[in-house]
Amino acid sequence: MVKRKDLRVLSGIQPSGTLHLGNYFGMMSRMINYQEENELFCFIANYHALTTNFSKEILSDNTFNAVCDFLALGLDPEKSTFWVQSDVPEVTELTWILASNASVGLMGRATSFKDKISQGVKPNMGLYSYPILMAADILLFDSQIVPVGKDQKQHLEMTRDIAARFNNNFGDTLILPEADIDEETQLVPGIDGQKMSKSYNNTIPIFDNEKKIRKQIMRIITDATDIDQPKDKETPLFQIFCLFLNDKETNDLSDRYEGRGLRYGDIKQELFERVMDYFSSFRKKREDLVSRPDLVRDILKTGADKAQIVAIEVLDRVRAATGIKYL
Ligand code: ADP
Ligand code: TRP
Repeated sequence: MVKRKDLRVLSGIQPSGTLHLGNYFGMMSRMINYQEENELFCFIANYHALTTNFSKEILSDNTFNAVCDFLALGLDPEKSTFWVQSDVPEVTELTWILASNASVGLMGRATSFKDKISQGVKPNMGLYSYPILMAADILLFDSQIVPVGKDQKQHLEMTRDIAARFNNNFGDTLILPEADIDEETQLVPGIDGQKMSKSYNNTIPIFDNEKKIRKQIMRIITDATDIDQPKDKETPLFQIFCLFLNDKETNDLSDRYEGRGLRYGDIKQELFERVMDYFSSFRKKREDLVSRPDLVRDILKTGADKAQIVAIEVLDRVRAATGIKYL
């Protein structure tokens, strides 16, 4: 990680209602760590969620919950700029301007769009334009580094492509961002061994009740290797457990897998205890935040005001460069 206060790091997450270990290790904890040494911009992408969500209660509840998740997990609104996407509506104007610099061919290649359709989601124009809105999120704040999981890599490439086309058409105006994808946590496996994702129903949730978390951990797939045989480490139980371990603990677990007498049931119980312990203080903080919506509202208002100052400045530059500002 590059440590510089003048380096602007930005990332966002859709309010999905079911925060899981993949989100946390793939993106959130890495993003939150950036606030110590860099200028962190972090937002909840509720306009993006609108492309697949048509219940007002679910969208507004999920947005509030996602805000509480981030604050509970350590995002510090004093150190960082934290807001809800729709509270800085300048992003929608930039989306429209960028749309004319995004080729239809490029949009057609978006794997996230194809995935959604293959899952049975009815395609709408919002979903199709999703990468343009995401490019606007990033470019509106002159972002330099964007920490995300591997599944967002293509969106970052599209953002760079759109920004490069824009600069080519109108002169150097937009900053081309770099994706920050961590090798080790780029794909946290789910309990079935596929990528952990709420769409696959294979997640280990973070803030759900203890019973649900235990149930999911006990459901992690394992093989039928005999108790006296060494066990395979390229498996979700081992890989998920390692996310919580330091180097020495990882070696110890690895030795147990390579030795005899290991019972998967014991490892699952240990993992469950570790997960509960790891998130216990976050859990308390979250409960406190949920009971204080006025405090959360104030935090978000301050964050949106801070974000908007930058957004207006960049949008003015874009308006001037394109001729939208005509006098
Ligand atoms: P989901 O796949 O559950 O719908 P999202 O698409 O909302 O999750 O992802 C939110 C963020 O978390 C993104 O930056 C994404 O790359 C990251 N992420 C999600 N699942 C994983 C995973 N299994 N491993 C690593 N990162 C992940
Ligand atoms: N598409 C991202 C996801 O599903 C969320 C997102 C929206 C985002 N805008 C962004 C991430 C800008 C990084 C930067 O996870």
